[in-house]
Amino acid sequence: MALDDFLASLDSLADEAQKAFVTAGTADALEEVRIAFLGAKGGQLKEVQKGLGKVDKADKPAAGKRFNEVKTLVEAAFEKAQEQLESGAAANQDAFDVTLPGRAVRIGHLHPITQTIREMKDIMGRLGFTAVEGPEIEDDWHNFESLNIPLSHPARDPLDNFYLACASGANGEADSPLLLRSQTSTVQIRVMESTPPPVRIISLGRVYRPDTADATHYPMFHQIEGLLVDRGVTMADLKSVLRLFCQSYFGGHEEVHVRFRPSFFPFTEPSVEVDMNWQGGWMEMGGAGMVDPNVLRAVGYDPEEVTGFAFGLGVERICMRQHGITDIRALYQNDVRFLEQF
Ligand code: DAH
Repeated sequence: MALDDFLASLDSLADEAQKAFVTAGTADALEEVRIAFLGAKGGQLKEVQKGLGKVDKADKPAAGKRFNEVKTLVEAAFEKAQEQLESGAAANQDAFDVTLPGRAVRIGHLHPITQTIREMKDIMGRLGFTAVEGPEIEDDWHNFESLNIPLSHPARDPLDNFYLACASGANGEADSPLLLRSQTSTVQIRVMESTPPPVRIISLGRVYRPDTADATHYPMFHQIEGLLVDRGVTMADLKSVLRLFCQSYFGGHEEVHVRFRPSFFPFTEPSVEVDMNWQGGWMEMGGAGMVDPNVLRAVGYDPEEVTGFAFGLGVERICMRQHGITDIRALYQNDVRFLEQF
C-alpha cells in the first residue's frame, strides 16, 4: 500500500473521530463513539492499523509514527468529550430548577395569652381605659403598704411571696424588702402617685406567687387590673364596665351575666368577688371593689372629692375558659403542637 493512501486514511479517521466525539451529547452516545473508533475489536483505529502491515517496508517508520500520533489525538478527543459531559452534568445539578414548587415557610403566631391580652386592651381601650405598665420587681410600699396591707397582714408571708435576697432603700425606708409583685394592684398606686385624678387605666402583666403548679395554679400568671377614679364613681359603674368587658370578650350574640359576691380586700371597701356566667356556667373572674379611702389618701388623693373602683382579674382563667383549656400548665410547656391550635 502506498504511504500516501495510508496517511490519507489516517487523516480522515482523525477528522471523523474528532467530529463524532464532539457531537456525542450523552454518556451512552459517547460510549458508542468510543467503541466505533477506539474499540479493541472492530474499532476503526484497529482496522486502519491493519493497513500498516501492508505499507512498503521503507515507509513503515513514517507510517507508524503518524499512526501513533493519530491514535493519541483520537484518545485525547475522547477524554476531552468525556470531561465535558461530566462537568456539564455537574453544572446541571447545581442549576436552580424554576419549576420546583416552593418550600412552605412555617409561620408562627401569637401565644394564646398574648392574644387574650391584646383583645382585652382593645376592649378596654374602646371603653376609654389607657393601658399602662409597671415593674415586676416591686418594693414593699407599692405591693403592700400603700394598698392598706399592714406589716402584720398574712398576705406578706414569706411563704406566699417571692422576696428577693437584696433590699432597696426605696421611699426613704432603709432596707425595704423587694419582691416579685404578687398582684398588679401595685400599678394603681404608681399611676395615682404620678397623676392627679381623674384616672382611667388598665394594667396587664405578670404576677408571681410560690404556688405549686397544678391544673389551676402556676407560680407565674397574668392579671388585668382596672382603675377608675373620678368624682361620683359608684359600684354601678364598676358592674357596668365589667359586664361590658365580659360581654365584648365572650359575648357575640349570647348574653353574658356578671354577679358580685361580698368579699374582703384590704384596698377596697366594699369588696366583691366577680363571677361571670356564659353558656350556662358561673366562673370566678377575680376581685373588685370601691377603692378604700386609705389607699386614696396614701397617694395624696382626697377621698371627700373623688371615689373610684378597681378590679383585678385572672388572664389565664379567661383565656382558658374561652378556648376550653383545662390545665394552665399547657400554656407554659411551649409544646408547639398544643400552641398552634389557637
Ligand atoms: N389584687 C387582688 C389579687 O391579686 C385582686 C384584686 C381585688 C384587685 C380587688 C383589685 C381589687 O383591684 O379591687 O387577688
